[in-house]
Amino acid sequence: MLSKTLLPLIVLAASVTAAVPPTKRATCSGGQTTANEACCVWFDVLDDIQENLFSGGDCGDEAHESLRLIFHDAIAFSPALTAAGQFGGGGADGSIMAHTDVEIQNPANNGLDEIIEAQRPFALKHNVSFGDFIQFAGAVGVANCNGGPQVQFFAGRSNDSQAAPPGLVPQPTDSVTDILNRVGDAGFSTVELVWMLVSHTVAAQETVDPSVPGAPFDSTPKDFDAQFFVESMLNGTLTPGSALQSGEALSPYPGEFRLQSDALIGRDNRTACEWQKMIADRANMLQKFEQTVLKLSLLGFDQSTLTNCSDVIPIATGTVADPFLPAGMSMDDIEASCDSTPFPSLSAVPGPVTTIPAI
Ligand code: HEM
Ligand SMILES: *[C@@H]1O[C@H](CO)[C@@H](O)[C@H](O)[C@H]1NC(C)=O
Ligand SMILES: *[C@@H]1O[C@H](CO)[C@@H](O)[C@H](O)[C@H]1NC(C)=O
Ligand SMILES: *[C@@H]1O[C@H](CO)[C@@H](O)[C@H](O)[C@H]1NC(C)=O
Ligand SMILES: *[C@@H]1O[C@H](CO)[C@@H](O)[C@H](O)[C@H]1NC(C)=O
Ligand SMILES: *[C@@H]1O[C@H](CO)[C@@H](O)[C@H](O)[C@H]1NC(C)=O
Repeated sequence: MLSKTLLPLIVLAASVTAAVPPTKRATCSGGQTTANEACCVWFDVLDDIQENLFSGGDCGDEAHESLRLIFHDAIAFSPALTAAGQFGGGGADGSIMAHTDVEIQNPANNGLDEIIEAQRPFALKHNVSFGDFIQFAGAVGVANCNGGPQVQFFAGRSNDSQAAPPGLVPQPTDSVTDILNRVGDAGFSTVELVWMLVSHTVAAQETVDPSVPGAPFDSTPKDFDAQFFVESMLNGTLTPGSALQSGEALSPYPGEFRLQSDALIGRDNRTACEWQKMIADRANMLQKFEQTVLKLSLLGFDQSTLTNCSDVIPIATGTVADPFLPAGMSMDDIEASCDSTPFPSLSAVPGPVTTIPAI
């Protein structure tokens, strides 16, 4: 029989056992600790790419392109094609880097050759799979942005892949219905499309109108804020370049670029309310983006076969402003498109309309 004095000791011992960390927890050669020693290599990759790919931890063009690349590698995944007896793509398998010669022919991948060629030597040097590398670089790159998200990173994707079939990456000329159907085939719901598009808050274009390279999608392309969702809803009145291009919509501000697909998704009654919601609740925006990018990064893979190396991803620093209207704009310029909820009331920063600089 247990005595009354022994019992608390047993309870205490049980709770201490439960608190012991997983046995594989490792200290890496650089002194960092991580949940699994298989993650140690990623600290070396981290130091190397922060210094030599991202210009010392910048949220610049390479970080933006690396974030774009995770989508273009992963979304080429089609259960519908597979069901029709064809090869449906391997998801986040690195095929865009292993078979660049084929996949770069896809017009949706225009402009990605630069970041793929810039990334490949790092993947080879550190002997990690192309699929893992692409997802890692995207997660690190976006963490370099002010107020950036904490995107989880799982390692262990096979390095074997086949070139993705053509036509699976959405284009800015596509209708909302086509885009919803395409991402739906890959497993994403309507709201998840909006959540993935939070990425366009740290984004610019080079190829839709090559005459204005680096024209950003909002006025704060280094800030992981909600300005993309605000500014994409302003009345479009001009083009940053000399003429409206295929895949472009009129934009509200000199220097700023608007994709036709973003203009339409922000105003479509299937997506407009969720678009607006991203402005109203920053914590929610971050959480939804993190959750959806994790799902994207696992397309074609079984999470239980991969190793959670999320603790290697840096925690973003920097702060972002609350949502605002750019100088010279007013709430009258907002094309509110959600019937059920009023557009959040925002005030304009003082001063006249200026030009958003290219990044
Ligand atoms: C509806 C789906 C989407 C369409 C049609 C689309 C289209 C585009 C286009 C045309 C560009 C400009 C590329 C250039 O000319 O350089 C762009 C940039 C970008 N996209 Fe998307 N995109 C979509 C979804 C996504 C998703 C889901 C992500 C990430 C999770 C993403 C991340 C980015 C980023 C970060 C950039 C900026 C690249 C840079 O600044 O160089 N996009 N997107
Ligand atoms: C991944 O595959 C490429 C060829 O597509 C090869 O050059 C590279 O060495 C492979 N990396 C690893 C880690 O096996
Ligand atoms: C690189 O990785 C591959 C696949 O994981 C492995 O077979 C090979 O031995 C590694 N090469 C080196 C030099 O570590
Ligand atoms: C969106 O608008 C269309 C056309 O006005 C209508 O047929 C459809 O039912 C609406 N859908 C939703 C989700 O409100
Ligand atoms: C992965 O590990 C991180 C801690 O590094 C943890 O916060 C996260 O919940 C884990 N992810 C999953 C899906 O278990
Ligand atoms: C959008 O801008 C145009 C041109 O300045 C103007 O005629 C139109 O009334 C504006 N529409 C809205 C909804 O503000």
